[in-house]
Amino acid sequence: MNIQEITKDIFYVGVNDRVKHKFEALWPLPFGVSYNSYIVAGLEKVALIDTVCIEEVREYFNNINAIAAGRSIDYLVVNHMEPDHSGSIPEIVMAYPDIRIVGNSKTIDMIKGFYHIEDPDRYLEIKDGVTLPLGGLTLKFFLTPMVHWPETMMTYVAEREVIFSGDAFGTFGSLNGAVIDKDMETDTYINEMYRYYSNIVGKYGRFVVKALDKLSGTPISYICPTHGPVWNEKIPEVTSLVSRLASYKSEPGVVIVYGSMYGNTAEVAEMIARQLAQRGVKRIIIHNASHSEMSDMIRDAFHYQTLIVGSATYSMRLFPPVEEFMNAMETREIKNKVFATFGNYTWAAGAVTAKLLDYSERMKLPISASLIIKQSSSEATPKDVEEFADTVVEAMHSASEADADSI
Ligand code: FEO
Repeated sequence: MNIQEITKDIFYVGVNDRVKHKFEALWPLPFGVSYNSYIVAGLEKVALIDTVCIEEVREYFNNINAIAAGRSIDYLVVNHMEPDHSGSIPEIVMAYPDIRIVGNSKTIDMIKGFYHIEDPDRYLEIKDGVTLPLGGLTLKFFLTPMVHWPETMMTYVAEREVIFSGDAFGTFGSLNGAVIDKDMETDTYINEMYRYYSNIVGKYGRFVVKALDKLSGTPISYICPTHGPVWNEKIPEVTSLVSRLASYKSEPGVVIVYGSMYGNTAEVAEMIARQLAQRGVKRIIIHNASHSEMSDMIRDAFHYQTLIVGSATYSMRLFPPVEEFMNAMETREIKNKVFATFGNYTWAAGAVTAKLLDYSERMKLPISASLIIKQSSSEATPKDVEEFADTVVEAMHSASEADADSI
């Protein structure tokens, strides 16, 4: 049982999932994940904020009963409808027959679609900025669409300076005893926040920026997301992290993603890395796209300033794992990168070059440097690689200066 008072009258009643292998059936969960739910206990009314994944419903009810035993729950606030949070709505409604579900029009439409709860009296539809008094505590609702679905919203308790932020500020990783950041070592969660943001919310950066703007000026002592720790001491750090990611601002470093069948393109990747290291680039991450997790490649491409992609030619196309990675970047509308490419065409002259160029134009990521070999890696002369590295480093310096100017 993992319950805790966050601040007076506000309780954590979420659960851990250490069983599921892949979140959304896509993203690995090496440290598990938590589904966070909270109780806000006013003097007159009690509100439950979000629910949990249906697989964890038994422990969830144990947690709720430990806090709310002897009191009814009057409201279920649904900040987000993705089933990792909405999955237990039908069970909550069955357990609390008088409960009213609080959400915006899109939320209510989705609940009807997912869970077939049709009774109009069941719902309390709210709009942006509306408040709901609980007695001594008041809920205020901020609509924050597309963080991460169109119905997403946040709920604020002014009396305690607490924001229930939905997926924003969420991270992978089960909670290992403690719930609030000040009571735990947070390095793993912060690292996983990069992966969570880039994998799950990454496409919606501009909406995250809007949501952060909407909250600016609102006093916040606790950020209570739907996944991971409750943020208190580290609010400045996580706000800055999310704000930078949402604006596609990244940190100094080079990520090389390559696909190679027989090692020639791989060797070019190694040669490029060696030259960059000799030019003082300290943070260089190399991913063999056939071997690395897509989730980690996406995380690192978001995190760091420079992306270098190398591909063998495969049936006149990019090597499939590289193409899949590039598609993932396109889906997430990645931008503001120093971008460079290398490839191996073997006999299909121009195929890889054309694909990389087409990608660069579609994504508005100009290619700073390009290096194409025919077959053997030895065709890339030391001079070719040195020139490639010089050009990339020069582009990195220009990008860093532009980034510093924009801060
Ligand atoms: Fe954790 Fe978008 O749901």
